[in-house]
Amino acid sequence: MKKQSFPYATLMLDNSLGVALYQQLYQKIREGILSGRFTAKTRLPSSRDLANTLGISRNTVITAFDQLLAEGYLEGRLGAGTYVASVLPEEPLKPLLTEENKDIQNNLQPNISKRGKLISSIRIGIKDRFGIDSGRPKAFQVCLPAYDDFPFELWGKLVAKHWRYPKYDMLSYGDPGGYYLLRQTLAEYLTKARALRCSPEQIIITSGAHHAFDLVARVLFDPGDSIWMEDPGFRGTRAVFESLGVNLINIPVDEEGLNVSEGISRFAKARAAYITPSHQFPLGVTMSLKRRLALLEWAQTYQSWIIEDDYISEFRYSSRPIAALQGLDNIGCVIYIGTFSKVLLPALRIGYIVVPENLIDVFLNAKALSCRYSNPFEQATLADFMINGHFDQHLRRMLKLYRERQETLVKAIKSESEGLIDITYASSGMHLNAWLPSQTNDQEIAQILEEQNIYSVPISACALSTKCRPGLMLGYTSFNTQEIIENANKLIKIIKSKL
Ligand SMILES: Cc1ncc(COP(=O)(O)O)c(C=O)c1O
Repeated sequence: MKKQSFPYATLMLDNSLGVALYQQLYQKIREGILSGRFTAKTRLPSSRDLANTLGISRNTVITAFDQLLAEGYLEGRLGAGTYVASVLPEEPLKPLLTEENKDIQNNLQPNISKRGKLISSIRIGIKDRFGIDSGRPKAFQVCLPAYDDFPFELWGKLVAKHWRYPKYDMLSYGDPGGYYLLRQTLAEYLTKARALRCSPEQIIITSGAHHAFDLVARVLFDPGDSIWMEDPGFRGTRAVFESLGVNLINIPVDEEGLNVSEGISRFAKARAAYITPSHQFPLGVTMSLKRRLALLEWAQTYQSWIIEDDYISEFRYSSRPIAALQGLDNIGCVIYIGTFSKVLLPALRIGYIVVPENLIDVFLNAKALSCRYSNPFEQATLADFMINGHFDQHLRRMLKLYRERQETLVKAIKSESEGLIDITYASSGMHLNAWLPSQTNDQEIAQILEEQNIYSVPISACALSTKCRPGLMLGYTSFNTQEIIENANKLIKIIKSKL
């Protein structure tokens, strides 16, 4: 571990106090020891260094040290170093926030805004079964990439190159839209891989898709506006939109994706529709071309927006990635959102919004107001990673690995569950749905599994108004063969014992 430099600033003395300087120094060191700032065996600076740094005489320091040595706060001999004693003469100070006053603080209704109260009432997926917690991913947390297979060494070298020889434009306040080379590289990639039609200027870099949801809602929606949401659907987007006072209308999803005619009959004049067309969350279906065209026609008729969340389009195992809806948009009604959280790592916090040309300025302003601009070093690294072919290579490796892991999970469940659990291969995505017998309460089963350290998302927890077939979302991408087989066996045993 690196040696910490001594916190001299905490010992600064004040000549105007009318208290002898040796006494002030004695008090400050004693307080530092009792509060835990200077822990047992911490070596204090020499009396000469301390005197020079604090601008006081060496005798003042020696007098204070002598008193602390005599009282047992310090130990050691002059010349051989002075250390904080291992056993203190009195109890360290109790933390200021005791359990008792912590409770009082928690019970006080904080004086926050109505918006703040709305925000605090919304449940988001922190430390829940979406896997947002510490440590290595636990079977079968969903949508987490294979952390162990990320090229950390290469990434580290690329980052270090930028930090070691930074260009001036990376050190100053940057473009709210993002690091230009990354936007350029992304525009080329999206045109080729996803058939988008966009210029680099239309791309706004964000801190992941969630930041994009927030910016989109702030720019396009007013409190009380009604939005079509997929049902079942992704709770993360719901939470962001709800926190801004948007009214969510649940529209059922079938094997062709969001049911557009159902949306029109429920509330045709909705301000927008939020969809995950390349891999619907959680059902995994791909929106058909017929539905895509129907949705675009609806948006044109009612001057509504389509929010296309393409969070996972890169992972297609048995067919080529299907073109994005944005590429079919001739009137500028599609707002496209992408993220590197799944294809690389959530920790990168790099996502992006592709906006129609007439929205570029307002989105640049919104981004600048929310955080000025994003850290350019990771963006520049990502641009290098893509330009030099590492991104394509990583994607190919992950596709192969994930296909194998998916097969392992399907085989393990099919061979042991004796038809109790219905599971099939998915042509895309990062999770599989394990369907349970029709009368099963999937939320109860998920809870029981969680108590045994097996994590899943019950499909019914993603649905609000629509009745869903009971099932569990199981992630497979971040677990090795042994983990998948062992945990699948455990899962089947538990489910069998409960049904
Ligand atoms: C539907 C959907 N969109 C987007 C995301 C990614 O969010 P972010 O980029 O903020 O990590 C997720 C993550 O689970 C998701 O399930």
